[in-house]
Amino acid sequence: MQVINYISELKSIVGEYRKQNKTIGFVPTMGALHEGHLSLVSFSKENTDITVVSIFVNPTQFNDKNDLKNYPRTLDADLEKLASKAVDIVFAPSESEMYPEPDTRIFDFGNLDKVMEGAHRPGHFNGVAQVVSKLFSAVEPDKAFFGDKDFQQVAVIKQMVRQLNLPVAIVPCPIVREADGLAMSSRNTLLSPVQRQHAVLISKTLFESREMAKTMDVKELKAWVVANINKDPELEVEYFEIVDDTDLISAKSWSEPNKKVGCITVKVGNVRLIDNIRYNS
Ligand code: PAJ
Repeated sequence: MQVINYISELKSIVGEYRKQNKTIGFVPTMGALHEGHLSLVSFSKENTDITVVSIFVNPTQFNDKNDLKNYPRTLDADLEKLASKAVDIVFAPSESEMYPEPDTRIFDFGNLDKVMEGAHRPGHFNGVAQVVSKLFSAVEPDKAFFGDKDFQQVAVIKQMVRQLNLPVAIVPCPIVREADGLAMSSRNTLLSPVQRQHAVLISKTLFESREMAKTMDVKELKAWVVANINKDPELEVEYFEIVDDTDLISAKSWSEPNKKVGCITVKVGNVRLIDNIRYNS
């Protein structure tokens, strides 16, 4: 496994593989790797010849300075995990390598970056688009693998790729969960043992809501999910939306033709956890 810090070096190594007609798979991450990230690596290895994983905690996507400061950084452990998965290349650039000049680009993805996470984390998706577009131009992957855990992020990245005519296929991959159902997240390590126990109510409620959806309308179900989680004093729902799975427009009724996804963000103390569930699939 080669660990590379500079874009020029990355380009020349990946360029050599491309000359040999190898396909390039790419998994962008912010490190603090867990089985969710590693599942993306497995999908990349199954579907492409050479797998590149990036590790970069991108400052421009953090709207909260404390969140950036507290974000877990575990580079040595991450490299061990990636080596055990036989990843070909790890790209771990510095901040000055990625942002030699401030990135002043402003993206507009219509509704996609305005709702849910977009509304609650101003500038977040603009920062994601800035860094992912830079990473795509550094790696030039054939396929890039993203987790459905960040459902809205996948929609935003797909739209960015269309807007910029980038020659990369975006491959969404399923959510990996802990044994009790909690969606794996780098932020789970920031929970106290007590908070961790309570956090399971998030996924438990989402799973139950699939059953409730058979008898409740959209509005009733939304209210039920919020109330069921908020009754736990350790948890506070920031938002729960049931949206169309492509344009992320809020659903009014189950009878609308498009598939629906319930997207939630819950605050457990200072830690924001996100999760989602599909209804009619
Ligand atoms: P990060 O939160 O590190 O996540 C990297 C990738 O892993 C994302 O595509 C995310 O959806 C996926 N992932 C995280 N938890 C997962 C889980 N439980 N199951 C499946 N996939 C999971 O997302 C980012 O980093 C950043 O925004 C990034 C795209 C790297 C840009 O900075």
